[in-house]
Amino acid sequence: MSSPDGPPNIDLYTRNGFAGPTASVVRAQYSPPYTRVRGSYAPHRFDVHDLSDAAFADPRALPVAVLEGAGVTVEVSRRSEPTGFAIRNVLADELHYVLEGSARLDTDFGVLHLQPGDFVLLPRAVTYRYAEIGSPLREMIVVTESQLAVDPENQPGVLNVDLHVDAPVPDPTTDRGPGEYEVVIRHGAEFTSYFYDYDPVPCLATVGAPIVRRFNIENVHGLGVTAGGLMPPRLINDATTRTLFYYLGNRRSDRPPVHHNADYDEVIFYVAGPGHYGAVDKPGTVTWTPKGIIHQGPEEDVPQGYEAWLLETRSPLSLTPTGREIGTLMETGQFGIHPSATRTV
Ligand SMILES: [Fe+2]
Repeated sequence: MSSPDGPPNIDLYTRNGFAGPTASVVRAQYSPPYTRVRGSYAPHRFDVHDLSDAAFADPRALPVAVLEGAGVTVEVSRRSEPTGFAIRNVLADELHYVLEGSARLDTDFGVLHLQPGDFVLLPRAVTYRYAEIGSPLREMIVVTESQLAVDPENQPGVLNVDLHVDAPVPDPTTDRGPGEYEVVIRHGAEFTSYFYDYDPVPCLATVGAPIVRRFNIENVHGLGVTAGGLMPPRLINDATTRTLFYYLGNRRSDRPPVHHNADYDEVIFYVAGPGHYGAVDKPGTVTWTPKGIIHQGPEEDVPQGYEAWLLETRSPLSLTPTGREIGTLMETGQFGIHPSATRTV
């Protein structure tokens, strides 16, 4: 098979994302297509809506992981009623993306009213609870031992931090008064509950640097390759470069090159249309390409527009049992369902 432009085909090998050495391989053949795969190290796509609502029927249900690796998990959450308890992840930072719904999120540092398109960075050791649900909330969550920071490249063009990144606002009226309160401490894959006879979440005021940060994808803008770079712009940084987040909405650019991303798994979250991202057209679709698997990926210059974001991680991810249940083998050209795919069980 040849590329749309015909041979020769360029296959780009990159280290450290695009930050390290790169080399091009010139080939007669177009490298992404494979006929079949045996084994578990294979690109998959999911629709988070395929996760049964029954998995979240219990109001105490916690997010469900679909991908997991050393120190990183990709999880899906759905809440249709408030949680009676609060949660504090003491070993990992959490990045929440609100795909659907609305809610009031109470945190140690105050209150946020969540809307679709919100990214919320909840660093480790911050307590939070879903205090009110406006409409059922569906979130995609990345949990990472890395320390994350909202630190967009090319600001204010990509995201104006001064205007469009906010923080929770203290609201003492959210104090629920006397009663028994539970805080669930998440430590790795385990949970320990602390109980109180007062409401431990509300605050009167905060002083110092903003800790919990929130911005909405509608305020994030792609830059054309001439204004930005070959890579999409980074939104959230990790000083160790282990777990990085990029904006992957439509932009003026050539289609990405065929490439080997030698050091990073790529997880793309397609969250809004109307434009299609190659074969991906349903918001809530997640694509996963493990590191070292040759791929190209769809055209990003889509005039109708779409919204997507990208997680890159050095952690080798693998499918969880739930990921295997809802995931489908994916081809690495347009990120469609692979012709050989039957549901993996
Ligand atoms: Fe890639």
